[in-house]
Amino acid sequence: MANCKPWLVCCLVLVGLIGAVAVVCLCIALLVVEGCPSGSFKFAAVSADSRICSNAGRSMLQQGGSAVDGAIAALLCTSLVNPQSMGIGGGSIFTIRNKTGNVKVYNFREVVPKSFKANLLNDCPVSFRMSIGSQWIGIPGELRGYEVVHKQYGRLPWAKLFEPSIQLARGGIEMPPYLAKLLNNSFVKNIVENSSLCKILCNKNKNVLGKGDILKFPKLAETMETIAEKGADALYTGKIGQDLIKDIKDAGGTLEMEDLKSFQVRVEDAWTVPLGNIQMHIPPPPSGGALLAFILALMKGFIPKQKSLDVYQKIGMYHHYIEAAKFANGQKRSIFDPQFNKAKNANHLIDPDFINHIRAKITNRTHDISYYSVKPSSDRFGTTHVSVLDEDGLAVSATSTINEIFGGTVYSPRTGIILNNELSDFCGRADTVRAGEQPPSSMTPVILETESGGLLVIGGSGGSMITSAVALSIINHLWLGMTLKDAIAMPIAFVDSKNNVKFEPGFNTSVIDGLKALGHKVVDTPYFFNVVNAVEKDNGCIAAISDERKMGVPAGY
Ligand SMILES: *[C@@H]1O[C@H](CO)[C@@H](O)[C@H](O)[C@H]1NC(C)=O
Ligand SMILES: *[C@@H]1O[C@H](CO)[C@@H](O)[C@H](O)[C@H]1NC(C)=O
Ligand SMILES: *[C@@H]1O[C@H](CO)[C@@H](O)[C@H](O)[C@H]1NC(C)=O
Ligand SMILES: *[C@@H]1O[C@H](CO)[C@@H](O)[C@H](O)[C@H]1NC(C)=O
Ligand SMILES: *[C@@H]1O[C@H](CO)[C@@H](O)[C@H](O)[C@H]1NC(C)=O
Repeated sequence: MANCKPWLVCCLVLVGLIGAVAVVCLCIALLVVEGCPSGSFKFAAVSADSRICSNAGRSMLQQGGSAVDGAIAALLCTSLVNPQSMGIGGGSIFTIRNKTGNVKVYNFREVVPKSFKANLLNDCPVSFRMSIGSQWIGIPGELRGYEVVHKQYGRLPWAKLFEPSIQLARGGIEMPPYLAKLLNNSFVKNIVENSSLCKILCNKNKNVLGKGDILKFPKLAETMETIAEKGADALYTGKIGQDLIKDIKDAGGTLEMEDLKSFQVRVEDAWTVPLGNIQMHIPPPPSGGALLAFILALMKGFIPKQKSLDVYQKIGMYHHYIEAAKFANGQKRSIFDPQFNKAKNANHLIDPDFINHIRAKITNRTHDISYYSVKPSSDRFGTTHVSVLDEDGLAVSATSTINEIFGGTVYSPRTGIILNNELSDFCGRADTVRAGEQPPSSMTPVILETESGGLLVIGGSGGSMITSAVALSIINHLWLGMTLKDAIAMPIAFVDSKNNVKFEPGFNTSVIDGLKALGHKVVDTPYFFNVVNAVEKDNGCIAAISDERKMGVPAGY
């Protein structure tokens, strides 16, 4: 160093500086090119209930398919990986926002067949149990719906959407972990081993399949192949439909070929509800969209300004939430098929005057059930949700169901299709049932335009728990500033249809104590079925979250 010349020092310093500047430049360049934080995507994403099905959806997008192509492929796959949740024997609601911001709802949930069991509602369960049996089967709308949305928005050939699922159904799937866990539940195990579902879900010894087994659907693979080739008509007017009707009749059901032929997809404008600077697009009744909007609109007045809440603020926030949910329970009977009740409707649920009137009734304590006009009933569970955003800005929020776990456990051996038990959705929420009517639902696939110009595509499953799960995810994320992942992972408070409050494991115990002190009746339950899947585009980056409660994993690129 002693004989080191000053110019050399200068030179080294200069080189060092240039190096540092280069590193900074490189970092900035990488940020601009990559742009998005790790775990998010630049172009498109799919959030389904399982990795395999999110991947099936993504593979459609990567082959040039639209978000609708991706959603259909992901759902067909879900009918194999989570056959308890949905399938082509059920129905769906798709909320679709096109690039220019127009939002349409495609409702193809099941409807009541022409002939159905007399006094059907006398069979309704009075406590928390499944509605098993063929009397609950509604006309399946799933494939007619896929056909309509594919015609409107599809970019890949129809048959292409079935490829991943036909391969899985025939080649077999390593027992999906969530399904394995469900089948190991003694209650579910009993139901499956004692039903025709055992044909596909049991081993040689008539015990349910478990971890390490291979799940196969050879008959459904054939059915899907025929539908891929011949279109939805193969079911609604063709041989598959005839076979399905034969099996339903063998199981004591009333569906006829005429019912399948008559099925119509309902296409409507979404209802758009402002929540401050947020616009929420919801499916109209008989979906649960209006109840979700009602709760969020009530809550808008009760959200603390600061983002990090202390325990008293949390108690206050959840108290108001629970009160809003209790009033929403009292409004459940406002949700019905508008085609059958033209004189009444659910418009008041999104009317600011009515919302203000109810908000004024929310006090600093809780009240007797009559205060909220609640007619106690029983709760429902089941369903799946897929959220998709594609490169062209098409957004699809799709909730699909066969209603309860494995529907009413009626399996059609001739077609491999599991039938829905959707008609039990009338239980506790209607006094009559009419042919062609659609039962009321909690399903609420929604799309929100956020304050920052982003797009949140979100929905949930878990029957009656859908409303709480989606409402709290939106509150946690858009109003309390949690990341989408944390917002969805947060344990929920669920107000059941008797206005008891149920807290998901992990819910803050100090907050529970505070809520008990305000008079809320807290009931323990081991059963939580709430699952939320969402995709959000903000600042050019796409975050995709599949709920870990159902062991879901999203996919994107
Ligand atoms: C979006 O939908 C509206 C209404 O159907 C239509 O007028 C518009 O052209 C659509 N935009 C695109 C990009 O498809
Ligand atoms: C299945 O359930 C039993 C209890 O009912 C439990 O002991 C066992 O560990 C479970 N197996 C798996 C694979 O979850
Ligand atoms: C199976 O179902 C039949 C008819 O409902 C019932 O009698 C029987 O007890 C059930 N068996 C089991 C193991 O649940
Ligand atoms: C409950 O929330 C409060 C406020 O955020 C926090 O201080 C406390 O540690 C939490 N308690 C538990 C048991 O998580
Ligand atoms: C609740 O509100 C009433 C009147 O609105 C007030 O008198 C009472 O002190 C409040 N109670 C609590 C615990 O804040």
